[in-house]
Amino acid sequence: MIEGSTGSGVSGKLRYGMVGGGPGAFIGDVHRKSIALDGMADIAAGCFSRSYENTLATGDGLGIARDRLYKTFDEMAEAESKRADKIDFVVIVTPNVSHFSAARAFLSGGIPVVCDKPLCFEEAEARELADLAKKNKLLFGVTYTYTGFPAVKHAREMIRRGEIGDIVYVAGEYPQDWLITPQEKEGSKQAEWRTDPKLAGKSNCVGDIGSHVENMISYVTGLKIKSICARLDKIGPGRVLDDNATIMVEYTNGAKGVYWSSQIAMGYDNGLQFRVFGTRGGIEWRVEDPNYLKVSLLGKPRAVLSRGRDGFYPRAQSLSRIPSGHPEGYFEAMANIYKTYIGALLKQKTGQALTEEDLDFPDVENGVEGVKFIGKCVESSQKGAVWVDF
Ligand SMILES: NC(=O)c1ccc[n+]([C@@H]2O[C@H](COP(=O)([O-])OP(=O)(O)OC[C@H]3O[C@@H](n4cnc5c(N)ncnc54)[C@H](O)[C@@H]3O)[C@@H](O)[C@H]2O)c1
Repeated sequence: MIEGSTGSGVSGKLRYGMVGGGPGAFIGDVHRKSIALDGMADIAAGCFSRSYENTLATGDGLGIARDRLYKTFDEMAEAESKRADKIDFVVIVTPNVSHFSAARAFLSGGIPVVCDKPLCFEEAEARELADLAKKNKLLFGVTYTYTGFPAVKHAREMIRRGEIGDIVYVAGEYPQDWLITPQEKEGSKQAEWRTDPKLAGKSNCVGDIGSHVENMISYVTGLKIKSICARLDKIGPGRVLDDNATIMVEYTNGAKGVYWSSQIAMGYDNGLQFRVFGTRGGIEWRVEDPNYLKVSLLGKPRAVLSRGRDGFYPRAQSLSRIPSGHPEGYFEAMANIYKTYIGALLKQKTGQALTEEDLDFPDVENGVEGVKFIGKCVESSQKGAVWVDF
């Protein structure tokens, strides 16, 4: 198949603001470029850094009017919520420590929020955000980026249709190797805050990447965790937070699973992958080769499905943008989350009812589950790697 994708399907254009994503930041620019892919929203306001000078530098570079560049996110939330041409949503891409207070400030001002993961430090805070969003009828996205890949959505649909039978075992892993050296002492800003409990929260490795495994497995399989047993290791010298984690999981349907996340696994750049085993088949996907899905069905030859060529189910197909063999990647996956989220905001603005497909983006309830997962892993590990109820 050689056609490209067909636009967003909804009309209109929104304005958004950003908190975080200043000079040298990682994910803020990924969000901006991903949002720009579909042309459904333009950036109009920002507080990109705790340094106003840095906010001005980033804002000027993006062509944002100076009166919409703010010294703090509190000031931004207050000023934007009072404007006639206020932002339609805000994107929060600061280190974890400010997610809760920033998200609460914008929700309280009636502004929808997209926040990066993990949603915040404590489950009670996450619950407060979810309740506030619900009370104020505000859509709230949490950017678990990897669920935006078409092949992931196809895997999910295959499982929902029962094509691999009942799930009996799941293996999810996310190995990286960037923290095998003490980057936090060698000038890496990203490593500095991730290894500092005051800025990252109670976990580094599980919070940063184990949370992606939890969300991915939950999204693809629909399984609910019943109990977990986790051992969090601090392998890098002097580390106070985990940089490697081994987690066993039991689900409410009786299936079992194992999650491994690591930042000290030499040879792995960003090795997120899942394997799901059912009574009639198995499915396997990895983010470093994201356009392909390995499928083994009982009595059939093993197959490698190719995005764009092998007829994914409609929802997955609708998010495939270019012909097969032309690799899509991280930006497109993030863009798919935004395309859905912004599409839902646009529909909501015109009073239309939102369907399950309109709401197929990771949301604040997924964020709450993620924060709960991190807390339970830490609790289990601190008690000596014992089983704890979820
Ligand atoms: N979804 C994903 O795949 C993914 C990938 C990477 C990071 N993340 C998440 O994104 C968030 C940011 O991570 P990063 O690696 O981009 O961090 P980073 O350190 O590269 O960037 C953080 C930015 O936030 C700014 N900032 C800090 N405090 C601020 C405040 N109070 N107000 C305004 N700006 C402030 C910093 O100046 C910097 O520009 C983290 O929560 C992380 O877990 C998600």
